[in-house]
Amino acid sequence: MRQQGKMELHVLFALFFLLFSVSSANLVSLLNSNGLAFFNCFANHSPASTSISSVVYAPFIPSYDSIFQNTIQNLRFNSSMTQKPQYIIVPQRPAHVQAAIICSKNHSLQVRIRSGGHDYEGLSYKSKTPFVLIDLVKLRKVKVSLRKATAWVQAGATLGELYYQIAKETSTLGFPAGTCPTIGVGGHISGGGQGSLMRKYGLAADNVVDAILVKADGQIVNRATMDEDLFWAIRGGGGASFGVILEWKVKLVPVPTRVTAFNVVKTLDEGATKLIYKWQNIANTLPEELYIRIILTVGKNDDGTRTIRANFNSLFLGTVDQLMPLMDESFPELGLEYENCREMSWIESVLYMNDGKSDEPIEVLLDGNRNVTKGFFKAKSDYVMKPISEIDLEAIWNVMEVGEAGIMIWTPYGGRMRKISPSETPFPHRKGILYSIQYYSKWQEKGNVAEAQHLGWINKLYYFMTPFVSKFPRAAYLNYRDLDIGINTIGTFAEAKVWGEKYFKNNFKRLAVVKGKVDPENYFKNEQNIVARS
Ligand SMILES: Cc1cc2nc3c(=O)[nH]c(=O)nc-3n(C[C@H](O)[C@H](O)[C@H](O)COP(=O)(O)OP(=O)(O)OC[C@H]3O[C@@H](n4cnc5c(N)ncnc54)[C@H](O)[C@@H]3O)c2cc1C
Ligand SMILES: *[C@@H]1O[C@H](CO)[C@@H](O)[C@H](O)[C@H]1NC(C)=O
Ligand SMILES: *[C@@H]1O[C@H](CO)[C@@H](O)[C@H](O)[C@H]1NC(C)=O
Ligand SMILES: *[C@@H]1O[C@H](CO)[C@@H](O)[C@H](O)[C@H]1NC(C)=O
Repeated sequence: MRQQGKMELHVLFALFFLLFSVSSANLVSLLNSNGLAFFNCFANHSPASTSISSVVYAPFIPSYDSIFQNTIQNLRFNSSMTQKPQYIIVPQRPAHVQAAIICSKNHSLQVRIRSGGHDYEGLSYKSKTPFVLIDLVKLRKVKVSLRKATAWVQAGATLGELYYQIAKETSTLGFPAGTCPTIGVGGHISGGGQGSLMRKYGLAADNVVDAILVKADGQIVNRATMDEDLFWAIRGGGGASFGVILEWKVKLVPVPTRVTAFNVVKTLDEGATKLIYKWQNIANTLPEELYIRIILTVGKNDDGTRTIRANFNSLFLGTVDQLMPLMDESFPELGLEYENCREMSWIESVLYMNDGKSDEPIEVLLDGNRNVTKGFFKAKSDYVMKPISEIDLEAIWNVMEVGEAGIMIWTPYGGRMRKISPSETPFPHRKGILYSIQYYSKWQEKGNVAEAQHLGWINKLYYFMTPFVSKFPRAAYLNYRDLDIGINTIGTFAEAKVWGEKYFKNNFKRLAVVKGKVDPENYFKNEQNIVARS
């Protein structure tokens, strides 16, 4: 299709660039024919204006490491042990994603797809099999349409960027998604996406109205041209099994100009257990405008003994004056006072729900790395259908207290979440769920000893929780990716069913059917990809 001469010129430019940035030892490996052929293929399938050297990165190129490490969120996988990609492709336009897939396939390389790099198990950027990393950091435009109350947001944009661009345009619209602003929309929305507006508006995935993606055959499709089943699958079933999502069109949702947030902390001595018991019974039946989650941390009493600190962390879509009577009626035991509450705009509440600081300039939402200290972490998830008794809660605290760095986040469901049918999207955790639990342990010390200690804590607590959480299967939330619940080793349907039904329950079978239709060769693979029934 493109003239041979032009194509080779691009490769020449790339090589010219490399010659000046590469040591002679590395040059030898560069000049092996496979590497050349890959560059050549990529140039051949890219638009003529492409500067290959700013799109394709091989390991001997100096900026390869920094690009690779840039959005790694979990430092457990920022290690020399992590299997790194043969090439990193940083697409600047959709055609580069198509070329990446076509050429990776041609060189028998798998691909990994990374948007925000927050995957808990690093699946977006590491693999045991030789692979190419498609890093979408340069596809991050957000285009808000006020008139239609929608936005087109490219996969590499962060939630912070999406929230910021909405708030730039209006103070009466928002978007229901996660609380951490550095998350990428590519992974987040395709895995569900829960946050402070979920009781009113559901998940991020529930508010997708269109999507553009590149399929395994290199074709670009949107909602109108894709299989209706595929559009269903990518709204909660995880994008990585089905294609590379380039862009989402999302529906924005009304928010009042003033919202109210509070964070009330109670220790065990201050009656946290009774409050949490009560919370289990009411948090999911409160009006949809009121979201109260509990963040449980391990703290110390004045005498140095350990205690549990329960943060009742809340967003209310209304004013303090509207909130107070509601709390007095439904949760007076918490003793909420006017001075515990702060009225603010929705965008300020985004900052508040992330780190309690609503008065930072909202521009911090644009800083992909913010100034949070990255750490090593491990997380797991559960769903609770029946309130846990006070006696059992006390027993749970005893197990939890052992790990100083461990936290649990209990997120109330109900409201809109209850009204959406469990088969409407692949995300099945709807009616009957009181709340979800996230176990999360984060540490800063390098090495196996620290890791073993933190994994020990989380595994012990998770095991102890067995009688209190969902069963057959013990359900889990895809976005809180956990390889302990099962992985594909030989890659059969039966094997994938083990972890697949935990994330998707009955929807797993339909996901497998979609996989068979849209990726019959099973090209998009990872430790937890959907597998078609053979
Ligand atoms: C600090 C922190 C806070 C979090 N808070 C919340 C929260 O409040 N609510 C919540 O629901 N979740 C939360 N999460 C989990 C988060 O939603 C998931 O980790 C999510 O998958 C991250 O998306 P990403 O694009 O940043 O990750 P990535 O690591 O880039 O991708 C995650 C997965 O999606 C795939 N993928 C990524 N982009 C694409 C694409 N364009 N097309 C196809 N597949 C793609 C990847 O291959 C990988 O399998 C949090 C995570 C962290 C680390
Ligand atoms: C990741 O590892 C590299 C190489 O060891 C190191 O230079 C970098 O600081 C690490 N990243 C973070 C965020 O710690
Ligand atoms: C790769 O491309 C070449 C040239 O077009 C073709 O001959 C070959 O069959 C392809 N290989 C694979 C594995 O697709
Ligand atoms: C984050 O950055 C801001 C502005 O650069 C600074 O004022 C603030 O102290 C930083 N916070 C932390 C926790 O480092």
